[in-house]
Amino acid sequence: MGNSNSSDSGGDIPNTNIELTENARDNSSRTFTEIPILLQGNPLQTVPSSSVVTSYVLAEWQEIVLLFPHEFYRFYFGLMLKAMNNFNPDDEEQQWKISAFLRWYKEWFYPALLSHHNYEENILFAWIKEKVSDWPEQIEADHAELLKNMNTIKALGESQPSPEDGKQLKELVKELVRFASEHFAKEEEFFPKKLREANATYQEWVAKNIEEQTKKTLPGVIYVLHSWGGEKAVEKLRSELPGHILMMNDQFWDSPWRKSSLGGLQDIIAGNTQLDDQVSCLEACNPFTVYGEKPWLGSRTPVRGRA
Ligand SMILES: [Fe+2]
Ligand SMILES: [Fe+2]
Repeated sequence: MGNSNSSDSGGDIPNTNIELTENARDNSSRTFTEIPILLQGNPLQTVPSSSVVTSYVLAEWQEIVLLFPHEFYRFYFGLMLKAMNNFNPDDEEQQWKISAFLRWYKEWFYPALLSHHNYEENILFAWIKEKVSDWPEQIEADHAELLKNMNTIKALGESQPSPEDGKQLKELVKELVRFASEHFAKEEEFFPKKLREANATYQEWVAKNIEEQTKKTLPGVIYVLHSWGGEKAVEKLRSELPGHILMMNDQFWDSPWRKSSLGGLQDIIAGNTQLDDQVSCLEACNPFTVYGEKPWLGSRTPVRGRA
């Protein structure tokens, strides 16, 4: 397939081509790989949720680069759908779930997915776009459409929400997941081809990948990679990240992400009304002086509290 070079793969990723079938492209009935929520330890290896790339070991590096972020978001998608399926907007006792979900969404999901789009447009795709003959402009249009949907959810009433808000939330979340899943599949189809056409190397991608990792993404990317790639894939990714980013992740980012993001979602799914304690963990678990979203890129000026 294409002009890929096995020496670019870093040696650990077999150079076997993958087959893309029509069935694999059908996103009309998406299901997501069931990955448990664990506040300690990591999930066991299963398979990717991607409908395009179905195996870490059988794919070439060009196929898997988008899976690092996408599998993380698909993990969130599965949990978001579960939370919505377990939510009855007509049940007064469950109205708290609307505010709780929106707080989680604004704190963890919205900024992470927004940063993924910005990373793609400004760094990852910008790197390749100029080197190839044509580019699917639909991708940027999709981002604009997705952002519109994301903002509609963000604007829903958080304080004193009504059952009507709840019904709307359920529909909007389902639509967001459907649209984003189709968008991810399109990207996973076209981008490997463009990487080959541009003669991009794995080492170049490694340098770009560092710039996507923030405190709201890296803990989840690594957590979910245990599932779709396994321990060796985690070791490989970690070996390619600078030591200070790993230190930040392990010391400051991982625990708040698990307790607040995973714990918060778990409470909404399970109907545990102790959620406020979990969300307050945003403060309690993160009392350190933290830096901006990309401390390794810009100013070292500390920002107190949440960035
Ligand atoms: Fe995208
Ligand atoms: Fe993407």
